Amino acid sequence: MPNYTFSVNGKTVTVDAPADLPLLWALRDKLGVKGPKYGCGIDVCKACTSHLNGKAVNPCVVPVADAAGKEVTTIEGLADGDVLHPVQQAWLEQDVAQCGYCQPGQIMAAVALLKRTKKPTDADIDAIENVCRCGSYFRVRKAIKRAAELMGG
Ligand code: FES
Ligand code: FES
Repeated sequence: MPNYTFSVNGKTVTVDAPADLPLLWALRDKLGVKGPKYGCGIDVCKACTSHLNGKAVNPCVVPVADAAGKEVTTIEGLADGDVLHPVQQAWLEQDVAQCGYCQPGQIMAAVALLKRTKKPTDADIDAIENVCRCGSYFRVRKAIKRAAELMGG
């Protein structure tokens, strides 16, 4: 099997895998990075949302070969040591998580949104398609607005 080298949360990794192995399985099964969750496997639920070169993607539909030479960031890579990312901080303040399953993906989607838009409107936030079976959307919205404040937006 071919080798693919890329960075995960700032660390260079090499994965021996078929080219079409979903990046999500490379992360979870081969590298032990369990933050990105498996929900649907078909780019619908967005539970696996992570960043590829800074943009939100769903690694369940990204072949590992497409990550070669790129930077992958997962929820595990957001905090700076013990200092939480402002989005994580806002999530705690607003007590967003219920069962928690969708939350890594929700946070990664929020971080990507705040990179594009400093002060997102309700419509911007509603355009996030991450599914939450617990219905945490109201608090997600409040937390994204709080994170925007914390980030000076
Ligand atoms: S598991 Fe990736 S979008 Fe559902
Ligand atoms: S908090 Fe349970 S699925 Fe979102």
